[in-house]
Amino acid sequence: MQRPTERVALVTGAANGIGAAVAERLEQDGFTVVALDVEPSPRPRALVQDVSAIDGHDALVEDVEGTHGPLAALVNVAGIFIAEPVERLTVESYRRQLGVMLDGPIFLARAAGVRMAGRGSGRIVNVTSVHASNSEASSISYDAAKAGLEAATRTLAIELGPFGVLVNSVAPGFVRTRMSVVDGQDELAGDWFRTRYVEGGLLPLRRPAEPAEVAATVAHLVSDDNTYVTGARLVVDGGLTVTF
Ligand SMILES: NC(=O)c1ccc[n+]([C@@H]2O[C@H](COP(=O)([O-])OP(=O)(O)OC[C@H]3O[C@@H](n4cnc5c(N)ncnc54)[C@H](O)[C@@H]3O)[C@@H](O)[C@H]2O)c1
Repeated sequence: MQRPTERVALVTGAANGIGAAVAERLEQDGFTVVALDVEPSPRPRALVQDVSAIDGHDALVEDVEGTHGPLAALVNVAGIFIAEPVERLTVESYRRQLGVMLDGPIFLARAAGVRMAGRGSGRIVNVTSVHASNSEASSISYDAAKAGLEAATRTLAIELGPFGVLVNSVAPGFVRTRMSVVDGQDELAGDWFRTRYVEGGLLPLRRPAEPAEVAATVAHLVSDDNTYVTGARLVVDGGLTVTF
């Protein structure tokens, strides 16, 4: 088995928010992290790439492995949210959200997972959302993409498990990142969040997560400590989904 100091991880969405926290945490844990994002980032080994450009993913993973060594972990974090009441749903925003949060992760997982399987070990984590199981208005494409990615996580776990590749999803609830700002409003700073979730008690821990708290769960799933969790969905939501 590779020692932690020799392990290479590919993290998508690593320029901001949860992806940046995952990249930072895995670096602390001894991984060499390749930080992929469509936006430039100051991280070492940053790769500017659109995850929805799936035709290039086999070549991309081959390149990453050629430069940095065999991938021990892939963490799919990249995401976007476009608020869209169903009557204003457009083909463009639907395709964009599914491209980034479903097509991209699946084809990266195929490229990385098949190589990991050939070597007999690997870890893949897909960051989904409580929206995969609990929906809200104006988020039809986002919800469908996240639910689809959780389904794909289970299928990948079944197919890759016999070859030592463990595949899981991590589903956050409210997290303090720029994604909480929708149409210029920070939903975590508004009356809606305070009265309903904090004072109203729908959120048992009464506060949003920090990105590092989500990263800690991802770090466990890709670590050598995780030898038997696969096909699972770990919910990191401060208790949100048990209250409604
Ligand atoms: N913030 C939350 O409350 C929350 C809750 C549940 C799930 N999530 C999920 O967590 C993930 C990270 O979100 P975040 O809150 O850190 O948001 P964020 O906007 O801070 O970070 C998302 C990152 O993904 C990158 N990205 C977007 N499109 C991309 C593309 N086509 N190719 C490559 N990179 C791309 C962005 O540039 C950005 O760096 C997303 O998948 C999101 O759906 C977030």
